[in-house]
Amino acid sequence: MKLRVAVTGAAGFIGSNLCSDLMAQGFEVVGIDDLSAGTLENVQPGIDFRKIDIRDERLAHHLTGCETVFHLAAKNCLLDCARNPVETALINVAGTANVLGAMVEAGVHHIVYSDTSAEYEGITIFPSPVNAVRPLSVYACSKRGGALVCESVASLHRLTATFVRYFNVYGPAQDWRRVVPPVMSAFTIQLLSGKRPTIYGDGSKSRDFIHVDDVNSFHRMLLTEPAFRGKTYNLGSGKAHTVLDIFERIEELLRTGLSPLFKDDLPGEAQKTLADTSETLHTGWTPHVSLEEGLKRFVDYTRRRMNEGAITASERPDLSTSIF
Ligand SMILES: NC(=O)c1ccc[n+]([C@@H]2O[C@H](COP(=O)([O-])OP(=O)(O)OC[C@H]3O[C@@H](n4cnc5c(N)ncnc54)[C@H](O)[C@@H]3O)[C@@H](O)[C@H]2O)c1
Repeated sequence: MKLRVAVTGAAGFIGSNLCSDLMAQGFEVVGIDDLSAGTLENVQPGIDFRKIDIRDERLAHHLTGCETVFHLAAKNCLLDCARNPVETALINVAGTANVLGAMVEAGVHHIVYSDTSAEYEGITIFPSPVNAVRPLSVYACSKRGGALVCESVASLHRLTATFVRYFNVYGPAQDWRRVVPPVMSAFTIQLLSGKRPTIYGDGSKSRDFIHVDDVNSFHRMLLTEPAFRGKTYNLGSGKAHTVLDIFERIEELLRTGLSPLFKDDLPGEAQKTLADTSETLHTGWTPHVSLEEGLKRFVDYTRRRMNEGAITASERPDLSTSIF
């Protein structure tokens, strides 16, 4: 019999990629999303998709028969979270509490909580080990709040909670519509539209980028190797690249001859992220998609989607580049 799992945030970037991967591996997948940020276009055929808010009191009904819940649904545009702290807490903290309550009611015993490298934004230890967190922004604090609720309910009800702290994930279906879109989407879309991308600051900020296929393989491992559950893992490549380096690599692939425009730094962004992946590598998982390969695939994907009219720069005239 096929193992049944649930994915919240199934219509979003990482959730939709995870659903496709799990389906391809023969799992039965229930996808949950209220489509507040995700799109139906991202929902793969064959997924048992339920359009529902994670805060809905009938959520348990949708989780019945699942072995694991991958909890990815969250409000996570940094600017949006800063402007709407109450709504952010209601979704990321209270919503997570509701997911846990629904799991208890439905008899689901394992949650994988999508945590974030933003937990390290007040820490200057590089690479960042999992045991030293200092969230500062509304987004990071709300994710910490959700993680603490997970720990508490899990210990109270004997659930297993696995915390996966993603660093900067990139790949197909990345949410390019955000007010401040992810850096790779912003650069690629603008260069392909013949426009000069904007960099806030001097381009020296650096991030640990990880391809979504490598995130998928880690999640899959958690289903097949229960011995590795119940811990906190950093999910990054273990290498940091500056914004300028990313720009130059994308421009090298596209050869537009365009240079970036520089604007004043955006407040509240960490100068650097870099994952200490020693615990993660202990599981036998290792990232397979190099930045060269991942960027090539990403540029090809974006070009194809722009040619199909599915991605349009004009929809976001203020498209500009930050990094988080
Ligand atoms: N993308 C990254 O690089 C990154 C890095 C660190 C952590 N994360 C975490 O990974 C998870 C997924 O991120 P993503 O980049 O795929 O974001 P995303 O915005 O593309 O996906 C989030 C999904 O959650 C859904 N959602 C939001 N509120 C909901 C609600 N109340 N009920 C039901 N669904 C709701 C949205 O519609 C969206 O489809 C988030 O928890 C995020 O905090 C992402």
